[in-house]
Amino acid sequence: MSDQAEHLRSLVAKSRHEPHEKDTRVIIITSGKGGVGKSNFTLNYALGLAKHGKQVVILDADVGFANIDVLMGIKPQKTLADLIQKRATLDEILETGPHDIKLIAGGSGFQELIDIQPEQCDYLLEQLGALQGVADYVLIDTGAGLNAQMLQLILASDDVYVVLTPEPTAITDAYALIKMVVNREPNTRLQLVINRAQSMAEGKETAEKVRLVAERFLGVELSTFCVLLDDPNVTKSVRRQKPFLLAYPHGLASRCIEDVVQAQVKGERTRKRSNKGMKQFLHRMVRLFQ
Ligand SMILES: Nc1ncnc2c1ncn2[C@@H]1O[C@H](COP(=O)(O)OP(=O)(O)OP(=O)(O)O)[C@@H](O)[C@H]1O
Ligand SMILES: [Mg+2]
Repeated sequence: MSDQAEHLRSLVAKSRHEPHEKDTRVIIITSGKGGVGKSNFTLNYALGLAKHGKQVVILDADVGFANIDVLMGIKPQKTLADLIQKRATLDEILETGPHDIKLIAGGSGFQELIDIQPEQCDYLLEQLGALQGVADYVLIDTGAGLNAQMLQLILASDDVYVVLTPEPTAITDAYALIKMVVNREPNTRLQLVINRAQSMAEGKETAEKVRLVAERFLGVELSTFCVLLDDPNVTKSVRRQKPFLLAYPHGLASRCIEDVVQAQVKGERTRKRSNKGMKQFLHRMVRLFQ
């Protein structure tokens, strides 16, 4: 049995005996335009939270190329597809990264959900459901844009972070995505992550533009989750396949991540419990694909 399997099993066992389970929060990271920094944000934010002692699981729902595993410099042996096909257990598909973050590679798993059989469904719910109360955060990294399936995953999550850059095309694509989500479910908790800003002022200005249009034309209140500065270290870290928070801990982007993590961890004490969590997320996810 691998160390990581042992570790997860002990966490699961521990959670069964702990009267106060963790409030597992499912956060989906999405964008209208591609290449705006979702995967880098997800990975480094996960690492930042993990540095503060949080148990974080990343679910990579992107079937593209520039995936989290590549950014981490690892090659997952098994994916969500193996879990759906009942060829593997949760322990076996979890890859362990720095600071004990866990990664589940989606592989072709999300396509396979479309014709999932009832017994596979039960198995999936049981296996992934074990993360409820064990993980503090489940972060779902997605590909760009919105298809019907992605919309369902968004609607099943506790929080939705929409990543965009100050570029006009990224702004209009983010707005289009927000509009589609709000039209389906006006109460979705959407927050903006502005990436690659040249200054904090530019980042805030970008967020304000989107916030104002969303308020005026969609009648929704958007909040800004964070602004990340443009930083050449990010590209360097991608080339080195080492997350920027570890490769360049004092760089601009790393400092932005540290700030938002600190604010998030501080706010945990006062925030409301997540209204969906992992179990609800999974139930909605499998139901929606059938
Ligand atoms: N804060 C930043 N500063 C400088 N460059 C950045 C920053 N964030 C991202 N980048 C650059 O943008 C590229 C794309 O980032 P990333 O792969 O995270 O985007 P993505 O939104 O996940 O893309 P996709 O839509 O293809 O999944 C990175 O390889 C990096 O070169
Ligand atoms: Mg990506």
